[in-house]
This record gives sequence, C-alpha cells and structure tokens, in this order.
Amino acid sequence: MTDRIVVITGANSGIGKAAAYKFATQGYCVVMACRNMEISEAVQHQIIASSNNTNVDLMKLDVSSFTSIRAFCSAFTNKYPHLDILIHNAAYLNHGEKEYKLSPEHIEMSFATNAFGPMLMTRLLADHLERSPDPRVLNACTTNIKNFFDPKRKIDFDNLRGEFRGMRRHSTYKMYGDSKMALLMLTFKMAEQLKSRGIKVNALQINRVKLSKETIHKLSPFWKVLALAQNITNPLPSIMADNYYQICTSDEFSQVTGQLINHKLEIVQPSVSEKGFAQLKNIFGSATYPQYATDKHNIEKIWSIGINAHKE
Ligand SMILES: NC(=O)c1ccc[n+]([C@@H]2O[C@H](COP(=O)([O-])OP(=O)(O)OC[C@H]3O[C@@H](n4cnc5c(N)ncnc54)[C@H](OP(=O)(O)O)[C@@H]3O)[C@@H](O)[C@H]2O)c1
Repeated sequence: MTDRIVVITGANSGIGKAAAYKFATQGYCVVMACRNMEISEAVQHQIIASSNNTNVDLMKLDVSSFTSIRAFCSAFTNKYPHLDILIHNAAYLNHGEKEYKLSPEHIEMSFATNAFGPMLMTRLLADHLERSPDPRVLNACTTNIKNFFDPKRKIDFDNLRGEFRGMRRHSTYKMYGDSKMALLMLTFKMAEQLKSRGIKVNALQINRVKLSKETIHKLSPFWKVLALAQNITNPLPSIMADNYYQICTSDEFSQVTGQLINHKLEIVQPSVSEKGFAQLKNIFGSATYPQYATDKHNIEKIWSIGINAHKE
C-alpha cells in the first residue's frame, strides 16, 4: 500500500472527482469520502481503471451529518495508520432552493455541510494527521465571499439553527456565501490551533469552473439552462484539481498555513481599504479578501457556535 494517504470529500463529481483522479495518477492512496455509494462506486472503478492505481478506496460520508462524520472518522482511523492530506471539497448549494433546510443536527444545511461539518472532521482526524510528516488540510472556498466587500453584508449568526426559519426571507445563495465565509474564518482559527502540531490548514478561493453533468442534472430547468450556457466558457474542473494538488503536495506550500490562496496560486491578502478605487480592485481582482474575515469577534463567534454544536 502507498503510504501517502489523501481523503477527498465529495470525490464522485466535479473538482473532487478530478482531484481523486489526479492524486491516483500520482500514486497516492486515495480515499473518496462520498454519500451516494452506488454512484460513487462506478466513479471509483473508473478512476482505478484510468489511473492504473488500485489504491482508490471509497468510504461512506454525509458531511451534513455529525453522526455520519463520527462514523466515517472512526472507520477511517481503524483502517488507516495516518492521514497526510484532507481535502474538504464537498459542498451544499442547491440553486433555486427557497426553503430553509436543516441538517440532522438542526443546523442550517449550508453551514452544516460547508463549515461545521469540515470543522468537526478536521478536529476528529487531527491525531491521525499529526502522524504524517507533512500534514495538510485544504478547504474549498469560493470567490462568492467577495460579497462581503459590501459593508452591509454579514452572517446572520442568530439564524444558523433554524431560529427564524419561515419567518425571515431565505436565500440559499446568500447562505452558501455566508457558510464559505465561515469556512474561511474557521480556516484561520484551525490553522492557529493546529500549528504547534505541524498541521497546515489553508483555503482555496475557487473561481467558476464547468459544472459536472451530475450537478447540472440536479438543477431546476432555469438553472440548468444557465449552467449549460456558463459551461461554454468556464474552464474544466481539472484546472482547480491541479491547484488542490499543488497546495497539498508542493514544497512551495509546505510551510504555508492559515492562508487563502487564489486560482493563480497566490496568497490572497486582507483588503486594506474597502472604499473608492481600492474597492473596485477588491471586487474585480483576486488579490484581496474582505476585512470581515479577519474580525476577531466574528472568528470567535463562528468558532464557538461550531464547538457548541459539536458537543450536542
Ligand atoms: N464549480 C464551481 O464553479 C465552483 C466555484 C466556486 C467554488 N466551488 C467549490 O468547489 C467545490 C467543488 O465544487 P464542484 O463544482 O466540483 O461541485 P459538484 O460537482 O456539485 O460536486 C459536489 C460534490 O459534493 C458532494 N456533496 C454534497 N453534499 C454532500 C454531503 N452532505 N456529503 C458528502 N458529499 C456531499 C456531492 O455529492 P453528490 O453527488 O452525492 O451530490 C458532489 O460529489 C465545492 O466546495 C464548491 O463550493 C465550485
């Protein structure tokens, strides 16, 4: 068995699938952590055949469920001696969904899947990561967080557990962006917490790539047409999968932690000013992220909501 082990969540389609293939072709032992075993098994067989690497495992994981995360981590740590790379790729964004959805542990679905689930999984796998000589965790973030350059934009911390479900207007798109901003803030906090144990934690600011046919299939007719139109010009998911690979394996990033990295593999900096010309550069460029993400109060708030939710 190869001794470099990578876990990729949501590895059955899009960027996750392309990343599983990339790591497999490079001789890694790849663990695809997926929720739909029937669909994912077919993908696993495809990757084994096309990469010529039989060390591609498939294990069941629903990232929106803490129970499923605990079961996955327990099965993984019983089966494997250590973990080198953990990629939190899976995400919830149900285009056009109007209803506020709750996870099994009564957390808003985007926050459960995109922020608090990955946070719990990293915490539970930290001992195994620590056994690697060069452990790295990568969180899949998005350019959508640029919406926080708007000074009015904020996370509704008071509505992450269904408190105002059905009472406040719900936008699944806003919740998606908010949950990815939360993931970025958790990246900073986790990096700080795990630094003394040698575990590096970063986030990748993902630009639009072509949506997979599996994802397009799940969309309503309106969003299907839009996605197909955008797919004409958007780059292939494999471009972003190559970025996952570079950040998680190259010497260049071996000492980098607590950073947001953009599609050009540059470290993104907190914006200095969010006014005038500087703001135009913030919005149209890829060099800065909103100051909102560095606010200590926001970071502590999201961290403590996650810690308390994990305890329940
Ligand atoms: N594509 C883009 O343009 C874009 C832009 C910015 C950021 N991103 C980010 O990049 C990452 C990958 O996106 P993608 O476009 O490759 O997405 P995708 O093709 O839709 O794949 C998402 C994957 O996540 C899995 N997933 C969703 N919820 C899950 C859960 N609860 N438990 C386990 N797996 C779950 C899906 O599994 P099922 O097949 O079972 O649904 C699927 O395998 C995401 O974090 C996304 O937010 C993408």
